[in-house]
Order: sequence, then C-alpha cells, then structure tokens
Amino acid sequence: MARKKFIAGNWKMNTTIEEARSLAKSLVDLAGKIADVDIAVCPPYTNLAAVGEILKGSTIHLGAQDVHWEAKGAYTGKVSTAMLKSVCVEYVIVGHSEQRSYFNETDETVNKKVKATLAAGLLPIICVGETLDERKKGLLHAVVERQVKGAYSGISEADALKTTIAYEPVWAIGTGEVATPTQANEAHIFIRSIVEAIYSKQVAEAVRIQYGGSMKPDNAKDLLALSDVDGGLIGGAALKAPDFLGIIKPA
Ligand code: 13P
Repeated sequence: MARKKFIAGNWKMNTTIEEARSLAKSLVDLAGKIADVDIAVCPPYTNLAAVGEILKGSTIHLGAQDVHWEAKGAYTGKVSTAMLKSVCVEYVIVGHSEQRSYFNETDETVNKKVKATLAAGLLPIICVGETLDERKKGLLHAVVERQVKGAYSGISEADALKTTIAYEPVWAIGTGEVATPTQANEAHIFIRSIVEAIYSKQVAEAVRIQYGGSMKPDNAKDLLALSDVDGGLIGGAALKAPDFLGIIKPA
C-alpha cells in the first residue's frame, strides 16, 4: 500500500512569537502549496495561535508538542485537547523522548495522552525509540515493543488508523549522529510487525512511521527512500525554512 509521506517539524523550545511568525511565513511561501506530501509544524504552545493564523489557506498543518489528558481543572502548567483545538491544532506529538527522560513521561501517561487526543478528534504522533545504552545492551526490540504496546493499549483499530508513529532513536536526536538506512528500516519494519500483532496487517500497512533523529536535507533522500520510512519528525532542521523544504522535497 502506498503511504503518503508525512514530514513534521518539532520546533521544541525554540522561537519567540516574532521568530515563529517569521519562520511560519517563510514556510508558507516555500511549501504552502505542496499537496503530495503531508506537512505539519509543531511550535511551542505560546506560538500556536499566531502560527495557525499564518498557516490558514496553506497545505501546512498545525501540531502541538504535548497535551495533558485531563479535560480541565487544577493542573498548573498543562494544556488540554480543547485548548489545542480552539487554536486549530490537528496533530499532537505524544511521548517524545525528551518528555520521557526529563519530565517523567511513562508508557502509561503516553497511553492516556493518546486516548485523550483521539477522543478529542486530534491526531497523535506517538514517539518511540531506544537510548544508546539500551541499543548497546541489545534491548532495542524489547524497549520499542513495550513503548508501542503501551501507547496503543485500549485503542480501537479504527482509532489506531488515525495515528502516526515516530521512531526516534534517542542517541540520534540532536547529536548529528543519524541512524544508518539499514538501522532505520530495520526498526521501522519491526515496529510495523508489532502494530500488525496488536491489530492486523491492514492497520500495520496503513499506519505511517516517521523517522526522527538528525534528519537533514543531505540525508533525507536516503532515509525517505526506504520501504518502511514514511516521513520524518524533524527537530533542528525544521527551524530553518530552506532546510525543512530540503527534507520535504525528497519526500
Ligand atoms: P533533531 O532533528 O534535532 O535530531 O530532533 C529530532 C527530534 O527529536 C524530533 O522530534
């Protein structure tokens, strides 16, 4: 089955409102009419509304970097699905390794966020990936299987079809060290086999699996040409419009 490529930019904790507006405008100019690749950008919360306004009328979608699973109330510092929807967010990154390692994200909280996101009609991008230590210990498969199964626990087949997975080997994030095409495709094929084991071949063939971790214009072509790499979740290179375009183009 041909899966449409999906390139998403995770701006992380970068961009003031002025910087975000300027970057979003450049992206609309350079990539705002591209329709044969799905494109999304995920600015910090403070810039979602402004970036959303700029993206209106373009083909670029808006995503958030996280969400809280509760609907409202006394959760200082948190943002709900309804708040995200009110500023036209469509995608939500869930379970990023930086959330897992710095902010106590667990497989259970990832699952709660996936459920809340889907219940609100938003589309989760579920991040999984092993650390260097785990890879060296031969735990890649065990870790990724636990993360994927945890994220999809209690999620229906129909809802699973609305999800994207991002395979982000932690050792490749922001380090300049990119997974080799063989390492990336092998992990993606493994992840797809887990999705098939949970659901069905049909779901496994439909769910898009992005690669994330030092994807840049100069390595994107090789990664995106792999059978099971359906796009990218881009950090550093998403902060410069020409670089982001340089990844969208080969997709
Ligand atoms: P880099 O592209 O900066 O390595 O970041 C990847 C990432 O974490 C995207 O979510």
